[in-house]
Amino acid sequence: MNVLIIGAGSAIAVATARLYAARGCSLFLVARNTQRLEELAKDLEVRGAAKVGQHTLDVLEHDKHAEAVSTAREFLSSVDIALICHGSLPDQAITETDFAAARRELDVNGLSVISLITLLSALMKEQGAGTLAVVTSVAGDRGRQPNFVYGAAKSMVSTYLQGLRGRLLPHGVHVIDIRPGLVDSPMTARFEKGVLWSTPELVAGNIVKAIDRKRHTVYTPGYWRIIMAIVRSIPDVVFKRLKF
Ligand SMILES: NC(=O)c1ccc[n+]([C@@H]2O[C@H](COP(=O)([O-])OP(=O)(O)OC[C@H]3O[C@@H](n4cnc5c(N)ncnc54)[C@H](OP(=O)(O)O)[C@@H]3O)[C@@H](O)[C@H]2O)c1
Repeated sequence: MNVLIIGAGSAIAVATARLYAARGCSLFLVARNTQRLEELAKDLEVRGAAKVGQHTLDVLEHDKHAEAVSTAREFLSSVDIALICHGSLPDQAITETDFAAARRELDVNGLSVISLITLLSALMKEQGAGTLAVVTSVAGDRGRQPNFVYGAAKSMVSTYLQGLRGRLLPHGVHVIDIRPGLVDSPMTARFEKGVLWSTPELVAGNIVKAIDRKRHTVYTPGYWRIIMAIVRSIPDVVFKRLKF
């Protein structure tokens, strides 16, 4: 199995890559930190990966996306699974007053993802096979006061994937929207952790399972499906007063 991981330095991506390495898969890693990529590649080879390639990319540089995807294809020959995992959780207060900051976050979490999805969709259509798995967030389910810029970007990607899934169905390409809840990773280092928090390893296990089982929209851990159903059902007249 040949696996491409974009945002490969993220805690969730690293944990997922380790699971695929243990299965003896070939991996191609894309991230913006070259030194980290080299360390990761060595680690994954030791853990059993058949071969590991890497490519440096800052996802804000849209004009370099095509080169990243074609380099991955050259290395892997075919891309059986593509996992898009990069993201950033901005300071909501700054993004509400500084549109340049908001636009950057909408790009990292939204537009850059759709640009990469566009290229990967074309590649997998041509292959006539493949699984495209994209990490969004429960934050996209409803715009909440503390993170609605981030949530808006994630929601845009989720909506895009809903339509794309049907478009790619006749081409043998499967699309998965992975929506983690609260995960203890560098992105959330500044928050106090409680009972609802999970680990990148647990989320990675659920990602691999979801890809194996060709699931569609995955809440991870699974209890987030119930939590978000409740959150979505709160009437606006109440919801607008909630600060969480
Ligand atoms: N942690 C959570 O509670 C949570 C919840 C729901 C969804 N998610 C989503 O899960 C995914 C993985 O996040 P994580 O929790 O594993 O956090 P993480 O370890 O902080 O990973 C985020 C990754 O995104 C990369 N990134 C950010 N901006 C980039 C850019 N311009 N170009 C290239 N890469 C860039 C970062 O690269 P550097 O390492 O170079 O900074 C980092 O590796 C993200 O999509 C996130 O939105 C996380």
